[in-house]
Amino acid sequence: MAKLKSVYVCTSCGNQSAKWLGKCTACGEWNTYQEEITSSNKTQNTSIPGIVALEPTLLHEVQPLSKERIILKDTELNRVLGDGLVSGSVILFTGEPGIGKSTLMLQIALQFPGKKVLYVSGEESPQQIKSRADRLQKVNEHIYILPETNVERILEHIQKQEPELLIIDSIQTLQTSKLDSAPGTVSQIRECANDITLIAKRRNIPTFLIGHITKDGQIAGPKVLEHMVDVVLTFEGDRNHIYRIIRSSKNRFGPSNEMGIYQMEEYGLKVVENPSSILLSQNEENLSGIAISASMEGIRPLLIETQALVSTAAYGTPQRSATGFDTRRLNMLLAVLEKRCGFKIQLKDVFLNITGGIKPEDTGIDLSIVAAILSSGVDIPIPSTYCFAGEIGLSGEIRSVRNVGARIKEAEKMGFKTIFLSKYNDEDSLKGKNIKIVRVGKAQDLVQHLFRGAE
Ligand code: TYD
Ligand code: MG
Repeated sequence: MAKLKSVYVCTSCGNQSAKWLGKCTACGEWNTYQEEITSSNKTQNTSIPGIVALEPTLLHEVQPLSKERIILKDTELNRVLGDGLVSGSVILFTGEPGIGKSTLMLQIALQFPGKKVLYVSGEESPQQIKSRADRLQKVNEHIYILPETNVERILEHIQKQEPELLIIDSIQTLQTSKLDSAPGTVSQIRECANDITLIAKRRNIPTFLIGHITKDGQIAGPKVLEHMVDVVLTFEGDRNHIYRIIRSSKNRFGPSNEMGIYQMEEYGLKVVENPSSILLSQNEENLSGIAISASMEGIRPLLIETQALVSTAAYGTPQRSATGFDTRRLNMLLAVLEKRCGFKIQLKDVFLNITGGIKPEDTGIDLSIVAAILSSGVDIPIPSTYCFAGEIGLSGEIRSVRNVGARIKEAEKMGFKTIFLSKYNDEDSLKGKNIKIVRVGKAQDLVQHLFRGAE
C-alpha cells in the first residue's frame, strides 16, 4: 500500500522541503511553505494518454513553427495577443472571482472561427454554462462541454475529440491521479498544467487556462505556472464598474503590456471601440482638480481623466489616498511639489482618482496628476481643452515620454487644443501639429503656465 508522506512546498516557486521553512531557500520568499500529502511509492507515470514519446531531431530538419494565427472575432483580444491566436499556444487567463473570465471565454468559444471547441469545466455544470450561453445569444454548434476535473480523463477526451480550441475552467480545480495531494495544491497545479501544456503543444491546440488569483493579486499557484505558458493575461477592473481591462504581462508571440477594454453588459462583454471617450467624464462646468493625461497603454494612446481633491486635513495626520494609482508614487509627487514648487501640502488631505476604474501603467500620467493636485490646491480649474504627458523626476524635472506622435494624434482626435509636454521631447517630432504644444522643463514651469499670477 502506498505510504503517505508529507512534504512542504513553496507556493511561490514550487520548491520542496522535508520540513517547514519560514523563508524559501530557492526564491527567498517568506511564509510561502504549505504542507502537502503525497504517496511515497507513486509511480512516475510519464506516459500521458495521447502523447507519443519523441526522439531527438536534427536542428536543421526541424519544421519551422507555423506562423499561422487564428484571427478571433474579438478585436480587443486579437490585439492583446498580438494579431490573433497562435495555434498551439497556451494562455494563462487570470482574474478575481466574478470579474467575467468564464463569460469572456465562453464568448470566444461561441464566436470561434474554427469549429470544434472543448470547454472543460471543473466549476460549473453544463446546465449553468448553457444558461450563460443563452444569455450571450451567440451560436456555435460545435462546443463540447466536459464537466471533468481528472487530467488523465481530460487528456483522453482531447485525444478523442481533437478540438481546435481548448478551454480549461479552471486550472486550480484539476487533479492528476499521479499525486495524492488535494486539487489546488502547488504540486497538483504544476503537474496538471504541465500535462495540458504538453498535449496542447504536441497537437497544436490553442489552449486557455483560466486561473484564480489570490487576494493580493498573485496567481494562486506556483510562479512556475507563468514560466510554463506562452502568454499571461489578466482581467481586471472594479466589479461594481462596467469596464473590464484585459492586459498581457507576458507574451512570447507579441507585445507584452498591451491592453484591451470591455464593457460588461446584460448580454455579455462588449468591446469598447473608442476608449478615450469613455475615460473622460462628462462634466459641463469647469471644475478645479481635473486634468487630462495623454497616456499610452501598450501601443495604444488613451486619454485618461485624473481627478484630485486637496483639502485641509480634518484630523491631525493628513490622509493620502489614491484609486487606480500607486499611493507611494503619489507621496513622491507630493514631496516634489512641496520641496521644488514650495506648494504647502504637508497639512492637507489629498485624494486622487483615475476615472473608469482603470490602473494606468504609463508614468507619463505624472504630469496630469501634478496638474490636477495643483489645480485643486489653488482652486482654479484647468481649461478643458488642455492635456498633459510627462514623467516627473525627484528633482522636479519633467522627463520626456515615448510615442509623443501617437499621443498628440489622439489628443487632436478628441478635440484638445493644447498639450503640455517635456521640453526634453525631441523638437522635430513636434513640428506641423494642429495642437498648441507647451514644453515645460520643471514642475515650477507648469505652475507658471497654468496659474500665472493667481497665487
Ligand atoms: P463570470 O464569467 O462567472 O466570472 P468569473 O468566471 O471570472 O468568476 O462572471 C460573472 C459576473 O458577470 C456575474 O456577476 C454576472 C455578470 N454577467 C453580466 O453582467 N452579463 C452577462 O451577460 C453575463 C454572462 C454575466
Ligand atoms: Mg468562472
